[in-house]
Amino acid sequence: MSEVFGVIGAGTMGNGIAQVAARAGFDVVMRDVAEDFLVRGMTAIDKSLQRDVDKERLSGEEKRAIIGRIKATTELSSLSDAIIVVEAVTEDLAVKTGVFRALDEVTKAGAILASNTSSISITKLGAVTSKPDKVIGMHFMNPVPVMKLVEVIRGAATSDATYERVHELSEKLGKTPLECQDYPGFISNRVLMPMINEAIFALHEGVATRESIDGIMKMGMNHPMGPLTLADFIGLDVCLAIMNVLYEGFGDSKYRACPLLKRYVDAGWLGRKTGRGFYEY
Ligand SMILES: NC(=O)c1ccc[n+]([C@@H]2O[C@H](COP(=O)([O-])OP(=O)(O)OC[C@H]3O[C@@H](n4cnc5c(N)ncnc54)[C@H](O)[C@@H]3O)[C@@H](O)[C@H]2O)c1
Repeated sequence: MSEVFGVIGAGTMGNGIAQVAARAGFDVVMRDVAEDFLVRGMTAIDKSLQRDVDKERLSGEEKRAIIGRIKATTELSSLSDAIIVVEAVTEDLAVKTGVFRALDEVTKAGAILASNTSSISITKLGAVTSKPDKVIGMHFMNPVPVMKLVEVIRGAATSDATYERVHELSEKLGKTPLECQDYPGFISNRVLMPMINEAIFALHEGVATRESIDGIMKMGMNHPMGPLTLADFIGLDVCLAIMNVLYEGFGDSKYRACPLLKRYVDAGWLGRKTGRGFYEY
């Protein structure tokens, strides 16, 4: 019998993680709060795998076997056999602490509880459980089946054994794990978001146009897309929330969010998802 890999949340990240784990041979249990979220998640997995079938990177039979290894459920108790559960629910401290408390109850003693959070403290999530040594961050990147990195975040109480097991599991998923400690923004957002925020300040101050700012960073630094385009892609509300996490977490004014970013979020111009951000879609 293969090992059970649990995923909480069937959204963008959750269904990507479930797909990658099933493809690596795990029996996956993917849990969400309602049936329609599960249907949406399974449809996304089907479409993503079908693209690989169309490109002859996967056979139809392999696709069916991968999908057959994923059990979609609203029952938390289905995670009782999991060796690891990766939480990928809404980025909200109260929702995530609720999930970690519940997971602490239903999972077996040795199970690892990982969070895919972009900005919430792993140490805080660990502290609401009875086994903070087994709690760790596994920050996958979007789209999960394509992006190689897993930023592995060690909370204050995470044990070496948990870290080593997660390192090994990440490699089994075909990913490259890279380690960091639990401080605001980890490494990815601590370095990325201030760059995006600075680009917004430059636009705000009239230093250059949006096209010029993006073009300079794209062509000059060999970035695949400019910072303003990237901000629209991530969502300006998400960028603002992460800047606020850095600002509050470090208490340092260098992380203050640009007023123009706040203004756009207030206006509901959140980027691609609302049809308008720094660009129109
Ligand atoms: N989208 C990205 O680019 C990205 C990248 C890296 C990390 N993240 C992080 O991944 C997490 C998930 O983000 P997403 O973009 O997949 O969000 P999403 O909104 O697409 O999906 C979240 C899912 O969680 C479900 N959910 C909410 N509460 C739940 C609960 N108590 N139990 C089970 N399911 C529950 C929702 O119904 C929804 O289906 C967040 O912490 C986010 O910060 C997102």
